[in-house]
Amino acid sequence: MTSPDRSPQKRPEKRLFVKTWGCQMNVYDSARMADVLAPLGYAPSDTPEGADMVILNTCHIREKASEKLFSELGRLRAAKEATGGRMVLAVAGCVAQAEGAEITARAPFVDIVLGPQSYHRLPEMVARASRAAGAVIDTDFPTEEKFDHLPEVSAPQGPIAFLTIQEGCDKFCSFCVVPYTRGAEYSRPAAAVVAEAKRLVAQGAREIALLGQNVNAYHGEGPDGRSWSLGRLLREMAGIEGLDRLRYTTSHPRDMHDDLIAAHAEIPALMPFLHLPVQSGSDRVLKLMNRGHAAADFLRIAEKLRAARADLALSSDFIAGHPGETDEDHRATLRLIEQVGFAQAFSFKYSARPGTPASGAPLQVPEAEKDRRLQEIQALLREQQVAFNRSRLGMHMDVLFTGPGRHPGQMAGRSPWLQPVHAEGGPELAGRILPCEIIATHPNSLAARIVGGARSGDPPNQEKAAA
Ligand code: 5AD
Ligand code: SF4
Repeated sequence: MTSPDRSPQKRPEKRLFVKTWGCQMNVYDSARMADVLAPLGYAPSDTPEGADMVILNTCHIREKASEKLFSELGRLRAAKEATGGRMVLAVAGCVAQAEGAEITARAPFVDIVLGPQSYHRLPEMVARASRAAGAVIDTDFPTEEKFDHLPEVSAPQGPIAFLTIQEGCDKFCSFCVVPYTRGAEYSRPAAAVVAEAKRLVAQGAREIALLGQNVNAYHGEGPDGRSWSLGRLLREMAGIEGLDRLRYTTSHPRDMHDDLIAAHAEIPALMPFLHLPVQSGSDRVLKLMNRGHAAADFLRIAEKLRAARADLALSSDFIAGHPGETDEDHRATLRLIEQVGFAQAFSFKYSARPGTPASGAPLQVPEAEKDRRLQEIQALLREQQVAFNRSRLGMHMDVLFTGPGRHPGQMAGRSPWLQPVHAEGGPELAGRILPCEIIATHPNSLAARIVGGARSGDPPNQEKAAA
């Protein structure tokens, strides 16, 4: 790799293509895998064709995960053959963790199978794969080791950045594979998180979303040797100069403690939008799901959050047709949605995940009934989302511009409530937070007019962030 190249033409770099399914944590992980491979000469590529290495970063949370993986692998087989077999093909993420050797049994042309806790060992696996006759499989679990060994974030993420602070889950909801694929809860030390946040800000980030499967269960070691809660960490992060917006996702109602709720009142940079999955509005189903709280607890938390910050809007996740859910339970979910009022939410048809307690539970709900319930939930949530977006009409708000919009002369950005916003403007706006007036609303986005110049505190060097 380091052989001297005396020809005038630069030796091409190795090309790396990463395809990512699933949540923001996977997006973050994909970026970190690219960071790990960069010192080996791998540079990102937009297509798998002709790439020297392809990583499929998979998600196992809902159905058809393995079907999607194997059909993608089927397509990649030809691309690999076209490189004379030189392409290194890796399967990463939660399907890799869950299925391990089954993947290489079904797709022997796969070179590497690695679980989410093994990304720091990728270079070593690439080297082993080039020597080994068979595939290299690594699905071990020590999370601490991973974060200790990953290099510092290298590629700038732009004005909105993601930072994983917590991984894994000890909650064992009846329907969920995460505790099995991501392992036990682990929180990164606060100092490492703050240092990474500062690097992201130096690279142009103005908004950081802290990520974790159970992010509000965060209990990382603080520089004072004590365990820091998420509330404590957020207060520390609020002091980082140039960091204007903070978010965290995904949270569990059980870990929504008063100290964290108070942070919403105290920290202006903490955006008034929170994703807080409740899954069901029926106490009976919440119990079957092993969620550890009742519907009334969720309502109380929503009230407290709004008391802490009046403009706070909520998002959530719902599952239609968990085993044992009756029509009455389903109606309790609709009632909870009515009572809370969501700005936005995700809803899914229950799908049995192998190895989870609910998958073998009695009283599985028939597919057609799950469909019907899901449609009712989605119709109501959509109504609420449209109403929430409409309620922003005429409002003045700060918009963080991120990059070009869909049409020429247009820029796209995000509202404090994470709504996509479009406004007329040029690329020089990227990375700037500007006061805007909302002039039109759509079901999934807002249209705005910029009403002022740089907001106070807008760093003068934002052109850098646009790069
Ligand atoms: N079936 C349907 N939805 C699920 N989710 C997790 N597991 C399942 C499953 N087996 C949903 C939950 C969770 C979101 C990330 O995915 O609503 O909050
Ligand atoms: Fe899955 Fe429940 Fe853990 Fe969320 S809290 S990751 S739904 S087990």
